[in-house]
Amino acid sequence: MKFNEPAGQNPIDNGKVVGRATDRIDGPLKTTGRAPYAYERHDVAPNQVYGYILGAGIAKGRIASMDASEARRAPGVLKVVLATEHPPLKTGPMNTARLFGGAEVEHYHQAIGIVVAETFEQARAAAALVRTTYDRAPGKFDLAAEAEGAEFVPGDGPDKAPVKRVGDFAKAYADAPVKIDVAFTTADESHAMMEPHATIAAWNGNKLTVWTANQMIAWAKRELARTLEIPPANVRVDSPFIGGGFGGKLFLRADVVLAAIGAKAAGRPVKVALTRPMMANNTTHRPATIQRLRLAATQDGKLTAIAHNSTSGNLKGGDPETAIAQTKLFYAAPNRETFMKLAVLDLPEGNAMRAPGEAPGLMALEVAMDEMAEKLGMDPVEFRIINDTQVDPENPEKKYSDRNFVQCLRTGAEKFGWSRRNAQPGQVRDGRWLVGMGMAGGFRNNMLMKSAARVKLDGGRVTVETDMTDIGTGTYTIIAQTAAEMMGLAIDQVRVVLGDSDFPASAGSGGQWGAANSTAGVYAACVKLREAVATKLGLDPATASFTDGRVIAGNRSVALSDAGALTAEDGIEYGDIGKRVVQSTFAGHFVEVGVDAYTGEIRVRRMLAACDAGRILNPKSARSQVIGGMTMAVGAALMEELAIDKRFGFFVNHDLAGYEVPVHADIPHQEVIFLDTLDPYSTPMKAKGVGELGICGVGAAVANAVYNATGVRVRDYPITLDKLI
Ligand code: MOS
Repeated sequence: MKFNEPAGQNPIDNGKVVGRATDRIDGPLKTTGRAPYAYERHDVAPNQVYGYILGAGIAKGRIASMDASEARRAPGVLKVVLATEHPPLKTGPMNTARLFGGAEVEHYHQAIGIVVAETFEQARAAAALVRTTYDRAPGKFDLAAEAEGAEFVPGDGPDKAPVKRVGDFAKAYADAPVKIDVAFTTADESHAMMEPHATIAAWNGNKLTVWTANQMIAWAKRELARTLEIPPANVRVDSPFIGGGFGGKLFLRADVVLAAIGAKAAGRPVKVALTRPMMANNTTHRPATIQRLRLAATQDGKLTAIAHNSTSGNLKGGDPETAIAQTKLFYAAPNRETFMKLAVLDLPEGNAMRAPGEAPGLMALEVAMDEMAEKLGMDPVEFRIINDTQVDPENPEKKYSDRNFVQCLRTGAEKFGWSRRNAQPGQVRDGRWLVGMGMAGGFRNNMLMKSAARVKLDGGRVTVETDMTDIGTGTYTIIAQTAAEMMGLAIDQVRVVLGDSDFPASAGSGGQWGAANSTAGVYAACVKLREAVATKLGLDPATASFTDGRVIAGNRSVALSDAGALTAEDGIEYGDIGKRVVQSTFAGHFVEVGVDAYTGEIRVRRMLAACDAGRILNPKSARSQVIGGMTMAVGAALMEELAIDKRFGFFVNHDLAGYEVPVHADIPHQEVIFLDTLDPYSTPMKAKGVGELGICGVGAAVANAVYNATGVRVRDYPITLDKLI
């Protein structure tokens, strides 16, 4: 189905199932431990053995020698495959660092070998016997030190000009009566999802199957075939349950390719999980940024100029953290300037992590907005409201499809009790606690991605098949809701099967596009199935309605089960609708913190998000997405930081003991409000994403609350207590 016009009235609007707070249909499987995650799929291939990955002990240089003779003689060992004995695997657009092969080392813990043994313990013990020597080369590990020599990143315009200019920023800034010029840093962060990267690989002749944990099945199939240089038709990827991804599982990682290589060498199915201490340095992370914001305004608070630039680092050929993305779109101002710079570093690969770009970008922009509001003597909510825009500020002919940011701010402020805030910092005490309130705007783009599904009707029940994934987000449930609504069934009459590359290719779980696009694909397939059903039952497909297990047209009503067995397959594809309007999601975030007046300890006391993301398909799972994002943003604001050993070039705190993330005791009650909006430009579902919106802006709201509590403005994240004292 081609979607290129705003959606009209359709069966989803009935809202009998879609839009209702619904328990996860996969919940019982998960809470009883019966949902099989990649490493637990003991039944998919017989005679599984274990692989243990070796990681490089240097960050840059070459392997001088590897000796596995002792390891190969160790008990239970079937095969040892060494990087020095294996040709370098192809890199590509989705993995900058080589996943395996060759003597060159590009980053710490890059995979340099796999030991395959009968048991995990045997594989691990033998891995410790592999002797490796290196010729270490000097590397660059310090973003601040390399920022000076960073190169401009080509822009997104047709001329690729690195600096995007609208109007005359320099003049407007020079002439403005009120202005600020502030710099921020954000830290390297790790996805730290619960389930590690894990794969079971099995060969059947030249056909490879991997049972793995991956957010994007069609990408994984394509990239695995390209990396191993085998035809895509010979690759099957299956990933029905995933214990979190946050972008870390968007792409192939070493577990997949080494399970495949190990399985080929050993002639047995091989299962591999990255150990927790391997994950931070072997896989990808969110790169640190150095950002500068300059804002200028009239005395009455109208922004006249905005400039934002960001410098981040990556391996040669890697991408920048696009921390300026939201600043190009969020607020009105006639004069604008944005650019990014990229420094080559020899740290592990930087790549997408939940709301790449916007998450760290808003941690700077939304604090700068708070500082500007204070300088203007304005309430920060009102300051944002008067600088709202309903068009793309860089391309004013392009309107927002549906933008209710002002309503997010007003609703959030009212529900949070913002009017009780004392604008003067450091004034509110509760015993030993200094108490402060902060707010920030949230912004994340909405992307359209084609997505397909197959729906099968049999005995009045429906099965949905698509390679879409559920990374803990609630995909199973919203897809079941969609098919139930379309076919006039209850949700328990729908079965959903996900994550298999043999199924029609979906949008996958990334960029918060999964929910709206994957359900739109299911919608398209159901439209086709409805036509097939009506035709088979001799009813007019144009007027047939589907409700309560019956198909009704004119004065006839027939049981859906009378249609017997039928299958339909279709998907949603987009024309240029996404280019004609700007589609984004919005939030108003409000946070109250307490800061211990003596120790500087920061405790978040209350959090509220008011979100505008089109139709909310399932308010229950959507709320979980948003509170998960809010929690992650507290981590980014207050504790998360991959600490770099700048001598040897690795992340030191590469496990969950050293890499701090918020736990339950760190997080208070979180309130989430969804505005009751529909965006007819997004998809026929009129829904947009919330999974990344939830993290966007919250970190700044925490920082602004800390400032309001203490009067100390910390611009270097994370805001640890030492920075307050
Ligand atoms: Mo997301 S960082 O596209 O999983």
